[in-house]
Amino acid sequence: MKIFLDTADLNEIRRAADAGLIDGITTNPSLVAKVAKGDVTDMYREICEAVDGPVSLEVVAITRDDMISEGKKLAAIHENAVVKVPLTEDGLKACRALRAEGIRVNVTLCFSVSQAHLAAKAGASFISPFVGRIDDVSGEGMQLIHQIRQVYDNYGFATEILAASIRHPMHVVEAMLIGADCCTIPSKVLWQLSKHPLTDKGLEAFLDDWNAAGTAI
Ligand code: E4P
Repeated sequence: MKIFLDTADLNEIRRAADAGLIDGITTNPSLVAKVAKGDVTDMYREICEAVDGPVSLEVVAITRDDMISEGKKLAAIHENAVVKVPLTEDGLKACRALRAEGIRVNVTLCFSVSQAHLAAKAGASFISPFVGRIDDVSGEGMQLIHQIRQVYDNYGFATEILAASIRHPMHVVEAMLIGADCCTIPSKVLWQLSKHPLTDKGLEAFLDDWNAAGTAI
């Protein structure tokens, strides 16, 4: 499964990219607002240059035509840019138009199978179902990933399922078991994935034994 980092923070991006652990990046207006003010074009370019893979940059326009023109500007920033549009009627129309121009589109804010189906029909490169936000309202976020996987496989849609709004390592594990194509995760969760107390305990014991014996390389 491809791992995307869900952030606009260049320090977090460089840390993960330097470790060779990420296949792309997703941003959204809230994530960008945490780290930037004013024109973000240069920052978007730097983010795109930091990773060898798709970087989702979201439109803030809400009408079809405005999304298309904003999407074209975002796509022109860098070849890694993928235009992110919301799953609205206008967003689906903008998705279709941008795809006709060869621009990759990530359709975001997906909360139902019927929405995911329409995004695939509109030619979306990625669909972003928000697992954590469904869990937040007592729903089963992972059930949505499961159902979208089934529908896309039933009908041979090439749209990649990008599990989003990931809150903890078990979300990532479940997404892998279901067969999501990608998962976008916050930096904190990425590093949590590498942790296991038995690894720490085992390493400590190995080093204690080695040092107690006075062994050397
Ligand atoms: C990614 O594309 C989404 O914008 C992001 O995963 C949303 O996560 P949140 O629900 O934790 O804000």
